[in-house]
Amino acid sequence: MVVKELTINQERLQRHMDELSEIGKFGETGVCRLALSKEYKMGIELVKQWMEEAGLQTRVDHFGNLIGRLEGKNPNAPVLMIGSHIDSQPTGGRFDGPIGVLGGLEAVQTINEQNIIPDMPIEVISFCDEEGFRFNKGLFGSRGITGQLEEGELEKKDRDGVTRREALIEFGANPDELASSEYPRGSIDSYIEMHIEQGPVLEAADVPVGIVTGISGPLWLTVELTGAAGHAGTVPMKVRQDALVGAAKIISGLNQIVQQEEDAPTVGTIGNLTVEPNARAIIPEKVTFTIDLRDIDIDRRNRYEAQLRKYIEETAHENGLQFTITEDTTIIPESCSEEILQVMRTESKAMGLDVIPELTSGAFHDALPMAQVSNIAMIFVQSKDGISHDPREFSTSEDIAVGTELLYRTVVKMGTGV
Ligand code: GLV
Ligand code: MN
Ligand code: MN
Repeated sequence: MVVKELTINQERLQRHMDELSEIGKFGETGVCRLALSKEYKMGIELVKQWMEEAGLQTRVDHFGNLIGRLEGKNPNAPVLMIGSHIDSQPTGGRFDGPIGVLGGLEAVQTINEQNIIPDMPIEVISFCDEEGFRFNKGLFGSRGITGQLEEGELEKKDRDGVTRREALIEFGANPDELASSEYPRGSIDSYIEMHIEQGPVLEAADVPVGIVTGISGPLWLTVELTGAAGHAGTVPMKVRQDALVGAAKIISGLNQIVQQEEDAPTVGTIGNLTVEPNARAIIPEKVTFTIDLRDIDIDRRNRYEAQLRKYIEETAHENGLQFTITEDTTIIPESCSEEILQVMRTESKAMGLDVIPELTSGAFHDALPMAQVSNIAMIFVQSKDGISHDPREFSTSEDIAVGTELLYRTVVKMGTGV
């Protein structure tokens, strides 16, 4: 495969990636840039400065999103939006999110340098709190601008007891003015996001990029099991109400439930668990854990959710436990726009990419809420060993440049028709 000469500036893009990776850096390659943190603000300030150097009009909205706008021939036409996020997981890597923001900026900067004036405005957006680690609920900025926030979200606390409202104020936003940062219905035509694959498909196929046909929807639950504490040496096994034994059965049950259909992409994870009182010689009285269940097929996900809820109830009953299940997030899977996929297929061929795999995304992305109000499309860039949410996350500068060139060409085609 020979990729024709790049129009975008790979060296500048690499420099931007390297510089942003320094903010919130830990170890050699780790990044901790939690939403609305001091590091997040520094990252936003830096990208804002680059957007301004690229000739974009910038603003930071009340959700904590950064937006850089290139005016089009018709300023009132629905916007073509490109973006991703720069917040990270607590032990994240350098690529999850930033390649979509900085690649989007590179694509638009190139459009400007080529003196191309698009028909409609193009906006590069860096969404706030895609990851959802800090306040246990993600996709904040993209749900925010599309009017999908839920009651009480601003009062959710992080692990230090800081509410999202307080974090927004600390960041410099005004949480009482959120409505003014929403986009009216019909004002966004399309949203395109480039992201690392976070999976093994492109590496196995030995291709730099792929295009995404659909995105899995996550269901996030929090389960609380309450039993009875007691002396670990004296309470007989038969009369125990051990909350951790119940949790262990549910972990195992979830693993079985999601693997009923061979080759289905369904996944289920219990990634956070707390035990109280968490002492060697005391029977666990209370266990709280999260469930993350994802599927590209909403009917199957709903079926599995029902089985899981029944299994939790039965397990609690058998082990003498009380239980509660709280739904934190439920988002339905979405398909990408066939029209934009067609542009990407044509443009990738024109670039000399003779194979362009089409795949679904198991990770969620800001494109998911954006699909409620606009067409969506995504480009995936090969990830080394499929690793992400980890400092070992890696994609080559060359592959990111190829993805960015495809992004640039797609945006030019959609923005000018030629
Ligand atoms: C978002 O990063 C996810 O967990 O898919
Ligand atoms: Mn991401
Ligand atoms: Mn992520």
